Amino acid sequence: MTAVSTGKTLLRVLAGSTLEPPPIWLMRQAGRYLPEYRALRARTGGFLELCLSPALAAEVTLQPIRRYGLDGAILFSDILVVPYGLGQAVSFREGEGPILEALDHGGDLARLAMDGFAGRVAPIGETVRRVRAELPPSVTLIGFAGSPWTVSTYMIEGRSSREFGRIKAWLYRDPSALAALIDRLVEATVAYLELQIAAGVEAIQLFESWAGILPAPAFERWVVTPNAAIIAQLNARHPDIPVILFPRGAGANYQAVSRMAGLAGVGLDTTVPPTWARQTFAPSMALQGNLDPLVLATGGAALAEEVRRIRAALGSGPFVFNLGHGVVPETPPEHVAELVRLVRA
Ligand code: CP3
Repeated sequence: MTAVSTGKTLLRVLAGSTLEPPPIWLMRQAGRYLPEYRALRARTGGFLELCLSPALAAEVTLQPIRRYGLDGAILFSDILVVPYGLGQAVSFREGEGPILEALDHGGDLARLAMDGFAGRVAPIGETVRRVRAELPPSVTLIGFAGSPWTVSTYMIEGRSSREFGRIKAWLYRDPSALAALIDRLVEATVAYLELQIAAGVEAIQLFESWAGILPAPAFERWVVTPNAAIIAQLNARHPDIPVILFPRGAGANYQAVSRMAGLAGVGLDTTVPPTWARQTFAPSMALQGNLDPLVLATGGAALAEEVRRIRAALGSGPFVFNLGHGVVPETPPEHVAELVRLVRA
């Protein structure tokens, strides 16, 4: 085990080091549980407008870093910036979540275009530059994108879904149309992540939030293959930028993820048994996770006990402390301070 010295602890772990204490950042560490976020949000227009306003998005990115001194700052944006960049109408309604002008059939792909994409997503590059200029030198700036399958669910369902009936109808009736959409998203996502890298992000996380709704052969085709294509292109052009994949809900399909090439880290959702993950993934793989966000919201003895359990199970190899999904809005901010204290104790 290496003692923590100087430098970016998150990058060292993603390069294969085992550090004690482990670096910590949290999915949705910026957001509605923070009073300073709610205050800023109340004086901005729509949520997408916030994502496209570099000064404000940079400020929101830095809010949890100032408050808690976390080891990673995740760019404040949203996975639906990519469909917006491709020309799809995207909006967010209070209490309802995202609303998109849903794609109905393969012919609707003609509405999506790469020309204009770079210009539409350019404000995100400016956010990254502003954050990099203000970030303490020990903190790693994490860029991100949604994975093609997950982003497709929103583009085809037009909103958050429970059944995924529309995208599954595409998948089972017209897989070539779905393939064309996924291919376009692979291209757009690589371009989008390269823009973030050029602007200064130092690591990437791919959010495959809906990895858990597919049978095994479909998981290979629509989760493994497109993510592998993105990772291969990024590794070829930016070998120094580590990539983390978060295939939420993949269950036993995490095994398929363990066979993927080119990953520096894997995000474990709350349901993954940590000791199983250690045995399943290569010893050099950085594992990230997987505290239940609701234990963080609860706090107290349960929080301390769960932090102890996860550290004991994952801390023997490269490990990044995180949640198994995003911080929930009900979380008392002081519980996050307590979590950081527990992890560094
Ligand atoms: O993690 C961070 O702090 C960085 C910012 C970030 C947001 N969304 C901000 C956000 C990141 C990395 C995301 C990713 C994202 N967005 C995912 C993947 C992760 C996951 O949660 O599974 C998904 C599926 C989305 C799409 C999305 N954006 C939905 C379904 C919603 C509505 C649900 C909700 O919580 O309101 C959003 C809105 C959103 N994205 C908010 C934030 C802070 C809340 C909007 C608000 O402030 O009103």
